[in-house]
Amino acid sequence: MKTLNDPLYRTERIYLDYNASTPIDPAVALAMEPFLHDHYGNPSSGHWASFDAKAALETARGQVAELLGCNGEEIVFTSGGSEANNLALKGAFFALRYKGDHVITTRIEHPAIIEPCRFLERLGARITYLPVDKSGRVDPDDLRQAITPRTILISIMHANNEIGTIQPIEECARIARERGVLFHTDAAQSVGKIATDVNGLGVDLLSIAGHKLYAPKGVGALFVRRGAQLEPIIHGAGHESGRRAGTESAMLAVGLGKACELARDLASMDGVRVLRDHFWLELQSRFGNRIALNGHPAHRLPNTLNVSFINCIGAEILNGLDGVAASTGSACHSGRIELSPVLEAMGITPEVGMGAIRFSLGRGTTREGA
Ligand SMILES: Cc1ncc(COP(=O)(O)O)c(C=O)c1O
Repeated sequence: MKTLNDPLYRTERIYLDYNASTPIDPAVALAMEPFLHDHYGNPSSGHWASFDAKAALETARGQVAELLGCNGEEIVFTSGGSEANNLALKGAFFALRYKGDHVITTRIEHPAIIEPCRFLERLGARITYLPVDKSGRVDPDDLRQAITPRTILISIMHANNEIGTIQPIEECARIARERGVLFHTDAAQSVGKIATDVNGLGVDLLSIAGHKLYAPKGVGALFVRRGAQLEPIIHGAGHESGRRAGTESAMLAVGLGKACELARDLASMDGVRVLRDHFWLELQSRFGNRIALNGHPAHRLPNTLNVSFINCIGAEILNGLDGVAASTGSACHSGRIELSPVLEAMGITPEVGMGAIRFSLGRGTTREGA
């Protein structure tokens, strides 16, 4: 019987979609393995069957905290980046509504920020969506000017998922602190690729997503600075110090913890950056001025290369590249291809933006492919 690994079924495969999801690191899988078979106790129980699970959960919390430079009590495990973002936005809005109703974010956030903002608008929130320049960066002066006495939260992503542009978070967070406004950053794409120390960044809330950093899907975390006011969005028993109800999965937390431990060593990103830049040079020598780089040339994630093939359609190019896994930001709606909102916000024309392809490299990428 033929299996999927049979050479007859295999095409050459090249995975360049690490910003969409990473494989699980073998060390992460190994750490999680015992929780599939043993350690099944409920971490909240008070008997022998829970002790290993509880201890592992707290060790994992410490590993996440260590990566972010905070205390374990400031980490709330979630089901992923989307939930962490929802908890930050809705939790802050519900807790601080007595103070104001104004939230500031940017036009290029992931839908896991934009959609909760739209939801809050339906509840009466006023949201300011800051513009970005042609490289995808916000201007801290725009932020300064947008803050009003009714501003209760600012949420600006650390690095953009499509173009990799890194925002001036330190400066934006400083402005927020001076004005006494809570500051959140969605670091789902930056954790494990660049430094994400919460005190260095100066943020009050920070979201991470396990499956972007070699942990499994279905787990993430929100850093909540001690003293920050946040209403839970999942009410129930007192898990996660009353901030997120639901029996914790020690197995998933252990996976995230191990992945965070590995992510402290950013040295592997140097090699990834070299490969990414080599790929860009190769493309340039082949396509010349028929391609354009999207995103900031320097303030950019080391693994991300968003390239526009001018006057082409990115999805069509990808369809023709058998075995290559990469992404295009443009979405097909009712037969019409629409420009990615991120590229649109950067002022990129449809002729350039429609041909955009995001190549994102990772630990497993080699010069030969893979
Ligand atoms: C910047 C950013 N934020 C949030 C998310 C959502 O994370 P999750 O898939 O874990 O819910 C993603 C995933 O693509 C992302 O890229």
